[in-house]
Amino acid sequence: MADFIKHPVVSLPDRDPDPVIPADRLVFTDDEKGRIAEWIGRYPTADGAIMRALWMAQEKFGWLPPEVIRLTADAVGIPYARAFGVATFYTQYYKKEMGRHVLDVCTCFSCQVCGGYDMLHHLEKKLGISKGQTTADGQFSIQEVECLGACGSAPVLQVTNGPYVFSLTEEKLDALVDALREGKIPDFTSVTLPQDQDEFGGNRRTDAPATAASPAPPVSATIR
Ligand code: FES
Repeated sequence: MADFIKHPVVSLPDRDPDPVIPADRLVFTDDEKGRIAEWIGRYPTADGAIMRALWMAQEKFGWLPPEVIRLTADAVGIPYARAFGVATFYTQYYKKEMGRHVLDVCTCFSCQVCGGYDMLHHLEKKLGISKGQTTADGQFSIQEVECLGACGSAPVLQVTNGPYVFSLTEEKLDALVDALREGKIPDFTSVTLPQDQDEFGGNRRTDAPATAASPAPPVSATIR
């Protein structure tokens, strides 16, 4: 027998864990079903609607335990395994209960060379948790994520699938955490680094007044 068969890379549980969402809550309303039907109608096959449907499910239930993924797959009319594959591929879909604020720290290439890991470790130290964990008060979760598509402003962090914080520094992280505890997102001015000032002609990273939090609304506000 081939070695990879004897020692599978991925070990799957024999069965789904016990449901955490009570059965009487595990339903979509007629309005939600209507939205899913509308999304399905926009694509050649029903599969195309699964990302929006999962997003809506996450907004409704807070995260995506297996029974919610199954409910969503059934509503869209695709196999559970396909919906599960989508939900587990993207860090934006939460597969476990998360804190009130989810801090996604990018450590992909551009962010990494600009100090992404320093930012991640500073955050871990400040909050007293490791990536993948949630603070005991349920306020913060930290995730290490792949490229957030804002490499020019590395290192970058995203707050709960919403605003970005660009050109991170330890001071910005401290201010961000303090502000989030008070339910606010602070504005920042971007910093000028030594390398901005000489051989790169000052344009390696903008030193123009900038806000770290993008004005983009959370995706949830735009998918209807
Ligand atoms: S590498 Fe971090 S945003 Fe692209």
